[in-house]
Amino acid sequence: PQRPYVLGIETSCDETAAAIVSADKRVLAHRVLSQIDDHAEFGGVVPEIAARQHISHLDKLLESLMKDAGLGFDDMDAVAATTGPGLVGGLMVGVMTAKAISAATGKPFIAVNHLAGHALTVRLVDDISFPYLLLLVSGGHCQILSVTGVGAFTRLGTTIDDAAGEAFDKTAKLLGLGYPGGPAVEAAAREGDPKRFRLPKPMVGKPGCNFSFSGLKTAVRRLAEECAEGEGILTIRDRNDICAAFQQALGDCLIDRLKNAIQLFRETAGNGNFPLVVAGGVAANAHLRGRIEALADKEGLRFSAPPLALCTDNGAMIAWAGLERFREDPAINDADEAPRPRWP
Ligand code: KG4
Ligand code: ZN
Repeated sequence: PQRPYVLGIETSCDETAAAIVSADKRVLAHRVLSQIDDHAEFGGVVPEIAARQHISHLDKLLESLMKDAGLGFDDMDAVAATTGPGLVGGLMVGVMTAKAISAATGKPFIAVNHLAGHALTVRLVDDISFPYLLLLVSGGHCQILSVTGVGAFTRLGTTIDDAAGEAFDKTAKLLGLGYPGGPAVEAAAREGDPKRFRLPKPMVGKPGCNFSFSGLKTAVRRLAEECAEGEGILTIRDRNDICAAFQQALGDCLIDRLKNAIQLFRETAGNGNFPLVVAGGVAANAHLRGRIEALADKEGLRFSAPPLALCTDNGAMIAWAGLERFREDPAINDADEAPRPRWP
């Protein structure tokens, strides 16, 4: 593998994750420990439990990671950690661990923005150069970004209420599908009829690239209540059909907003042909991925997205974003950076 080697640590939410990547786009080792079981009974992530689980598991996870790679901390050229945005207790665990490794080895610490991690992952797995148009859809965010460089993002649109993943998670909770909701709603939708119910599509047809999903969530609640009233119980068929309608409506919103963004990007980037990229946990959804790819085809744009395991939170995306920053500025040293719950 080609140097630099960068270790990346991700602890901003409910995944304890780390990876080592090299400049020639190899993932030398990669570990993700999900805390889903620890949070499932609460129907969502409990910050205090998340922080304690990160503390309990991160040291051992790093030990096995280094063993997998056959490397020691001294072999790293830099150490990166998600420094925000996210749950501050978890961020502190990852940042302090990375800073300790940095202090012990004398290798620089790099503070990585979690969203920049999602945004740049596609360059780890595909030959994508700047500029590109990015739809970033995760549990905490729903944004359309123009990505013109490693640290150069222009936000073209964002959600005015819920994130796309949040809408999936809330819908799942309403329908009794458990946590995390995305994969469960997708599986139910696959068995359902998207045409039986019609749900609202907030913002569709309006100018601009902003999103809104709270009305969709409210409509799902009402629909579920109506179905349950008629039949005494929400049947599996009803539930599947509601999931299919929800996924269809959310997809319509994403596509409509993306169409406006493509037009805007064409005007501002002055470049007719650019890649269209989708990233973040919701990008793991096959239905949505397929529709965005079809839109790219229609618009004559190249489509790219990370493989599923690199869409949801992981260490490789943080290591890679750190490596990109390190390559641009080998003298980088973020030792003074503190965890930031908010970091737009
Ligand atoms: O990027 P991510 O792992 O964490 C954040 O940065 O938020 O995204 C997690 C979100 C959750 O809301 C989860 O329900 C959603 O991504 N998600 C999905 C799928 N897999 C994960 N949403 C829809 N379909 C999926 N297959
Ligand atoms: Zn994420």
